[in-house]
Amino acid sequence: MVTSRSTPNIALIKYWGNRHDAYRLPAADSVSITLDTPCVEVTMKHSPSFMFQSFLSDGTEKVLKEKDIARIEHHLSLTKEFLAERNLPDAIPESLSVVIRSAIPPAIGIASSAAVFSALAKCYAALAGNRSDKDTSIIARLGSGSAARSIFGGFVALVNDPESRNLKDEASSQISSAYASQIADEHHWPLFDIIIVPTMEEKKVGSTEGHHMAHTSPLFPRRVEAITQRRQQQCIDAILAKDFEKLQAVTEEDCWDMHNVMRTQTPSLQYLNDETYRITEEIEDLREREHLPVLYTMDAGPTVHLICEEEALDAIKRFAHAQKNCRIFESSIGKGAEVIEN
Ligand code: DP6
Repeated sequence: MVTSRSTPNIALIKYWGNRHDAYRLPAADSVSITLDTPCVEVTMKHSPSFMFQSFLSDGTEKVLKEKDIARIEHHLSLTKEFLAERNLPDAIPESLSVVIRSAIPPAIGIASSAAVFSALAKCYAALAGNRSDKDTSIIARLGSGSAARSIFGGFVALVNDPESRNLKDEASSQISSAYASQIADEHHWPLFDIIIVPTMEEKKVGSTEGHHMAHTSPLFPRRVEAITQRRQQQCIDAILAKDFEKLQAVTEEDCWDMHNVMRTQTPSLQYLNDETYRITEEIEDLREREHLPVLYTMDAGPTVHLICEEEALDAIKRFAHAQKNCRIFESSIGKGAEVIEN
């Protein structure tokens, strides 16, 4: 039996669009902060037949949809394909019972798939004889691109192997040609993420379908170029130098750029709503008025992540809790996925 625990991450440079959809090989690199909450735990045991079960934090069983089970099964077969490449074709038992316990309310704009697939990857990697963090992040990526980053704590980059950058090259679509690594650990720079969730409605188009159509946006090639040539490195430099102003500039630039790509792809995706625009405008005013080190960023949903330094924390919490009809989550930097029982 093996049990792992993981948490979501929030992207500063966003992963949007693939160079290879089936393997979730990203078109561009990305950067994120691993959060310390909410947690997902996965337990795997030998079992006479395959079984998946999922429970919410109050202990009630969440009935998995067909498509969720299909995704977990598909991830398992890709994991086996990858392990076969590492000369471990039989590392995962023929049948397993997999139990997922998640404290993340579904579809709230806090990437639950990142936490789930990184926790699954930790278990598979343990079953395959404690694979390296690099291999574990590849396994996580095969289930959800952003999950590759939650394997590590602190500040994390998901990168394409330099040789795989040539998009037309066959070798560029190798299963292991993108993986995450740590930029700095969770003690490097104490930042906080105050998360404002304006709606609990489940989104209509998930990230997976969205990624597949990113290339239809006329803005997409320029986005990939900007990240590859400049933004990824600017973000890493800002993190290493703990330069909040630079981090704010590059993070917000990349966030709006991703949402512009989403809006201009076919079919068009508009994940933000009036509340998102109101909150981000009010944050711009607040930080100018009070000189607060706070930045905002939004993933594939209207949820606003307010990332701040400690000196801004009280003011940002007050701002967040004053929002009507919104749910608020408070989180700081986490240590990444771990095996808690083996
Ligand atoms: C906007 O990792 O959720 O949050 O691989 O289909 O699970 P799948 O996509 P996912 O995409 C993340 C999109 C994003 C940006 C990011 O987290 O980098």
